[in-house]
Amino acid sequence: MIKRYVYGKPFETYSVVCLDGVTEAAGEERSLFAKVDMEKALEPYGGITWDRPEDAAMGAMQYTRTMESEDVVYGLGENVRGINKRGWIYESKCSDDPNHNESKRSLYGAHNFMIVAGKECFGIYIDYPGRVIFDIGYLDKNELAITVCSENYTVYIITPDITPDVTSADGISPLYSILRQFRHMIGRSYVPPKWAFGYQQCRWSYKTAAEVEEVADNYRSRHIPIDAIYLDIDYMKDYKDFTVDKEAFPDFPDFVKRMKDKHIHLVPIIDAGVKIEEGYSTYEEGVEKGYFCKDAKGRDFVVGVWPGRVHFPDVLNRQAADWFGHGYKVLLDAGIDGFWNDMNEPAIFYSEEHLKEVFEQIDEYKKANLDIQTFFEFKDKVDGLANNLGDYERFYHRATQPEGEVVIRHDHVHNLFGYNMTKAASDAFKELAPDKDILIFSRASYIGMHRYGGIWTGDNHSWWSHILMTLKMLPSLNMCGFMYVGSDMGGFNDNATEELVMRWAALSMFVPLMRNHAAAGTRYQELYRFTDTDTFRKLIEIRYALIPYLWQEYNKAVDSETLMYKPLGWEHPGDRHAVATEDQLYVGDSMMICPVYEQNAIGRHVYLPEPMTMVRLKSATDYEQEKYAAGHYYIDIPAEQVVFFIRDGHKVPLGKSAEYTDALDDSDAVWLG
Ligand code: GLC
Repeated sequence: MIKRYVYGKPFETYSVVCLDGVTEAAGEERSLFAKVDMEKALEPYGGITWDRPEDAAMGAMQYTRTMESEDVVYGLGENVRGINKRGWIYESKCSDDPNHNESKRSLYGAHNFMIVAGKECFGIYIDYPGRVIFDIGYLDKNELAITVCSENYTVYIITPDITPDVTSADGISPLYSILRQFRHMIGRSYVPPKWAFGYQQCRWSYKTAAEVEEVADNYRSRHIPIDAIYLDIDYMKDYKDFTVDKEAFPDFPDFVKRMKDKHIHLVPIIDAGVKIEEGYSTYEEGVEKGYFCKDAKGRDFVVGVWPGRVHFPDVLNRQAADWFGHGYKVLLDAGIDGFWNDMNEPAIFYSEEHLKEVFEQIDEYKKANLDIQTFFEFKDKVDGLANNLGDYERFYHRATQPEGEVVIRHDHVHNLFGYNMTKAASDAFKELAPDKDILIFSRASYIGMHRYGGIWTGDNHSWWSHILMTLKMLPSLNMCGFMYVGSDMGGFNDNATEELVMRWAALSMFVPLMRNHAAAGTRYQELYRFTDTDTFRKLIEIRYALIPYLWQEYNKAVDSETLMYKPLGWEHPGDRHAVATEDQLYVGDSMMICPVYEQNAIGRHVYLPEPMTMVRLKSATDYEQEKYAAGHYYIDIPAEQVVFFIRDGHKVPLGKSAEYTDALDDSDAVWLG
């Protein structure tokens, strides 16, 4: 059952698409959220860091609830910390922050759905695109407090709705019942083209066509399977969206075709900011038609990103979004069939207005004797230039709403930018290339975007802890509808080692988006750069042999509105050890994975909540199987091998590997288990 609580006059986010069976809360029920003084409510969380003080008068609203000791809280999509979200504070605020560590409260997505599971089970979705704070046992370990920094928003409370005709094993559990109702309400998840399940290679940046071809040839000559190579920002002319640097990539359509002939898709990046430059058609058209976000005085708002000064397309406005989406045409026409949308939180290095203010202050500091106070003030001013929360209060959208165009300040709808940029592209693809299946995923997102594309989890590090973090995020991303997901394999920032990339590959091979990506200035981490390329070839071949299973389970989870990645506690809610296990996952209906995420490990502890068959793969064709009873085990897992488990009575197909997905032949699978 779903109950809807509408407070004030909410901004329409279009995240919910199906209201069948949803009932409206009335009377006393509406006191679920109570009005609080924003300043007081936010004080223990660091105060009003985003909304301008004058907004405080508008008030915030809060929901509180005591948590029982056995309550587990699942959800919140892309976020730091555990599968069980208890014991920390999270904030909905799409953030361009590359330091994904435990002190953070937000990453790039804002996914306001969670399930409280205990004696009582319920789901809660806060449909508000501004700031929401989820204190899940932070101030008081037994209290849940959700603060919405607005009086205009919608809440959905979902309780289990177990009907007698539900016969599947997972359908009986209240958790799955809540999840399915929520997923049904937000609409069907995006399904990418099948080649997007192949191995993909990225780096910031392969700067010329020759460099890209060299990467392709290095994979092909070593027979390491691959389906896609990415074009990061340097393929563009001076970082201008929808342009190609003709010197570095002469005759681009011909180059795209040459790569297609090698069965490699090229996937260019598109950034949110449009460079301000006379003669650049996207910029000139945007200005002429009034399609950019405006400042308080109605002028096109200026911020700095990769190309220097840019404007943001007003993707919340239908005409502007349609126009921006059609910008992708030039690349589609060149034969491109995959894109990644970036910097769409939107990331801001500086706003012109704020930069001016800081420069003026620096002039003052120049004259001063920088002491303990002034030195740190000065340092904070400069450090605080990028992604400054105040900058999100300096610009406006002309958002298309059911009642017409509404002028709204960005911070109130901040979390919708990446969603609408990606929707703009996806809508345009349907018109421009109706017969083409196009890969698209984004960095920033809000629930609703899952219908239009996938996400990758942004700028992680080549750290062992980030292998585990990837695993922990998979179920909560699925809960929020995001099915085509993945992290930068091998880690984006910092230098990777061969062992780390191997272990990361042994997790990523079970994840839809298996993309190796690294930042500029870091050690090269294409698989052929390391010594043991033979092992990497075998690992990627195993991935390709698993595609029949992964593709089938992906589509099944999309169609039946459920999880592809299931925490052990969802399958065994009554088993305390299963609920507390946060480093293993069920993948689809039949398989359980247990990746190694520690340096120099020789194996790991594995908990089996039920009897299972262990599969040990030394290659895509060389494997052993062994039956295990339920219980705790230490399993040896060398970095050259892949181990997973199959549930009793289930079978997992292991196909014949191929060097690219088009050559996969599903008819030839052996059935494990
Ligand atoms: C951002 C992206 C990263 C990309 C870089 C350059 O940091 O998250 O993936 O490589 O920008 O475009």
